[in-house]
Amino acid sequence: MMDLFSEIEEPEREELRSLRKELEEANYKYYVLNQPTLSDQEFDFKMHRLQDLEAMFPDMFDPKSPTQHVGSDLAVKGYGLPVTGKGFEQVKHKYPMLSLANSYSREEIEEWVRKLPSTAEIVCELKYDGLSISLWYEHGVLVKALTRGDGQQGDNVIDNIKTIPSVPWKIDRTDIPEFFELRGEVLLPWERFEALNKEREEQEEPLFANPRNAASGTLKLQDPREVARRGLDAYLYYMLGENLPGKTHFERLETAKEWGFHISDAIKVCHNVDEVMAYIAYWDTERKNLPVATDGIVLKVNNLAQQDELGYTAKTPRWAIAYKFPAEKQLTLLKEITYQVGRTGVVTPVANLEPVQLSGTMVQRATLHNEDFIKSLDIRPGDKVWVEKGGEIIPKIVGRADRNDEMSATASLNDGMMYSFPTTCPECGTPLVRVEGEAAWRCPNEAGCPPQIKGKMEHFVSRKAMNIDGLGEETIDLLYRQGLLHNIADIYDLKAEDIAAQERLGEKSAQNMIAGIEASKQVPWARVLFALGIRMVGETTAKKIAKKYNTIDTLMWATAEQLCAIEDVGPQIAENIVKYFEDIRNLEILDRLRKAGLQFEGEAEAEPTSDKLAGQTIVISGTFAHHSRDEYKAMIEAHGGKNSGSVSKKTSFILAGENMGPEKRKKAEDLGVKLMTEEEFLGLLGS
Ligand code: IVH
Repeated sequence: MMDLFSEIEEPEREELRSLRKELEEANYKYYVLNQPTLSDQEFDFKMHRLQDLEAMFPDMFDPKSPTQHVGSDLAVKGYGLPVTGKGFEQVKHKYPMLSLANSYSREEIEEWVRKLPSTAEIVCELKYDGLSISLWYEHGVLVKALTRGDGQQGDNVIDNIKTIPSVPWKIDRTDIPEFFELRGEVLLPWERFEALNKEREEQEEPLFANPRNAASGTLKLQDPREVARRGLDAYLYYMLGENLPGKTHFERLETAKEWGFHISDAIKVCHNVDEVMAYIAYWDTERKNLPVATDGIVLKVNNLAQQDELGYTAKTPRWAIAYKFPAEKQLTLLKEITYQVGRTGVVTPVANLEPVQLSGTMVQRATLHNEDFIKSLDIRPGDKVWVEKGGEIIPKIVGRADRNDEMSATASLNDGMMYSFPTTCPECGTPLVRVEGEAAWRCPNEAGCPPQIKGKMEHFVSRKAMNIDGLGEETIDLLYRQGLLHNIADIYDLKAEDIAAQERLGEKSAQNMIAGIEASKQVPWARVLFALGIRMVGETTAKKIAKKYNTIDTLMWATAEQLCAIEDVGPQIAENIVKYFEDIRNLEILDRLRKAGLQFEGEAEAEPTSDKLAGQTIVISGTFAHHSRDEYKAMIEAHGGKNSGSVSKKTSFILAGENMGPEKRKKAEDLGVKLMTEEEFLGLLGS
C-alpha cells in the first residue's frame, strides 16, 4: 500500500520542486532583469498549482518557496536563487583555471610553434580583456558561474551572471552531455563603461580606470539588479568536460555556438606562422572597432589529442599561448607643462604636446600625474616624450626619449634647466600645500579659487544633488564670469531678468532655470547635505549622516568622535565635516541657503519595515477604501518601493482604486502594466 502511494506521489513532488524553480526564475527575470518570461495568467496558474501541491505535501513546506514570498523579495532572498548576506559561495573548480604564457613578438611565436607537432593547426582567437568565468551546465541547466579566484577555487557569482542576456540559463536539447563547462570572459562594453564612469563622476565616486576594473567591480556586487543595469557581456572560448563532442577545439566552439552560446566570430584556424601574423596584423587595427576591450590574441593547438599530448606546466597549458598587443604609444614633443586645478583643489600637471594620432584619436594633452613623476623621469619642456592611451580614459606620459637622440635635438636646449613644480596656485595664486603621504599638491583656497568655486556649484546643481534643470557647466561658467555667481548661495538670488539678459540665454532658459531653482527648495535634507560638497561626503555617506542627524543644527555641533560612530564615516571624513562647519564663510552660505528655504531638516528617514517592494516602481491611481493615498505612499516607501506619478515601461504595477483615471488605465493596458487592487496590495504586504 505504502509503496503504491509513494509511486503516485513521486511525480507530483517532482512537479512541486520544478514549479518552485520555474517560478523563482520567472520572478528573477521579471523583477531583476525586467524581462518577463511568463504572462501574468501563466504565472498565476502555476502559482496556484504550486499552492495546491504544497497543501498536498505539508512535509515539503519551505519558507523560501515562491508561495511564501512576493516579487522582488523573492528575487533577492528567495528560494535557492539569490545572494544572501555578504560574500559568495566558494566552490572548488572541477579543472583548475590556469593562465596563459605571454609572447610579444613573431620570434617568440615561432619558438612556441617549433615545439608543436609539425601537423599542428593553430586556432587564433581574440584575447578579451575582462575576467575569466567558468559556467557549469548540468542536464542543460546553468548551475554555477565561478570566477577564477586563486585558480583552484572561485566565487559562485551565478546571480550576477544570469543578468547577462547572452548567457543561456538552460539548453533545451537532448544531444548534450550530462555535464559540461564553458569558460570565457566577462566584459563591460566600452559604451557601458563610459556611461558608468560619467555617472560616477556626477556622483563624486571614484572612476574605474578601464573596462576590466569596472567589470570586476560589477561582478562582485551583491545586488544583481545593479549588475543588470550596468550591462555586462560575456564571450566564451573554451569547452571542458567528459564525453564532449568533437575532436578539435574549433569544432567544440562551433558546437557551443549551435547550442546557443556567445562565441566570437573572429576565430580562425591557421596553418603556419605567416597566417598567424596576418591575423594579428588585421586585428591589431580592427579591434578598435569592437564593442569590447581586447589586449591580444590567443593561439591554441586545434587538435584535442595533440593538446593532451602537449599537456601543462604548473601554471599554463603548453598547447596555448597569448600574444599581447603592444600598448599604443607614440613619441612626440612636449611643448609646455601647464597645470589644471580640479574641483577639490588638486593641481595636476598637464603635458601640452605636438598633436599625435593615438588609438584612433588625436591627442594633444596628457597627464603627467604629479611632481614626483616628473622629477623621477626628469621630464622638461622641449623633450620628446612617450604618450600612451591604453585602456585608460586619459592619455598619459609614460616615458622620455634619450636627450642625445637625434629626434630630441631641441631638448638639448633645455639641458641643465631643472624642472620645478609651482609653489602657488596657477588659478588664484594661493600658496599650494602638500598633504603628508600624498603625491598631490593642493590649493587650499576652497572658497576663492575659480575652478574650485565653479566645481562646487556644478556639483551642487547636479542630478543626484539639487537637480537644478537648466543650470549646467557652461551656464555656471558664463554666470560666474559675468559676476552673477560666486558661490552656491548666489544661485538663489538669481533673477530671471539677469539671466535673460545674457547673450546665450533667453527668456525661456531663464524661466526654466528659475523653475528648477525653485523646485530644488523641496529637495530633501540628505541630498542637500550631499550637495554642499563637503570633501569625501558622497551620496551614500550623506544619507547615513542625515539619518542620524536630522537637522543641520545638530550636525553642526557634532564632534569628530560622534561622527565616527556613523557607519561609513571614518576619521578623515569626520574631520572634513568638522572643518566645514568651522569655516565662517561656509556658515554664511548656509545661513543664506536656509533663508532661501532649503530643507535643512528632515524626518529621520524611516528604516524600511521590509524590502518586499525593493526595486519596484509603483503608481497609485483612484480612490481607496482602507487607507488614504498618502498612507499608501508611505507604505510603499516603508517596504522599499518607489512612488511614481506616471505610468511608463518602468512601472512595476499600479495600485488601482475606484475610478482610476481613464488615461492611466489605457496606458497601463498598452504597456501591459499590471493593476493591483487595494486588497491584493495589502495581502502582498501581509497587512
Ligand atoms: S583560453 C587554459 N582564450 O586570458 C587556457 N583565454 O592571460 C584558458 N582570455 O585567464 C584560457 N581571451 O581570462 C583563453 N580567447 C581566449 C581568451 C582568454 C581572454 C583570458 C583568460 C585567461 C587570461 C590569460
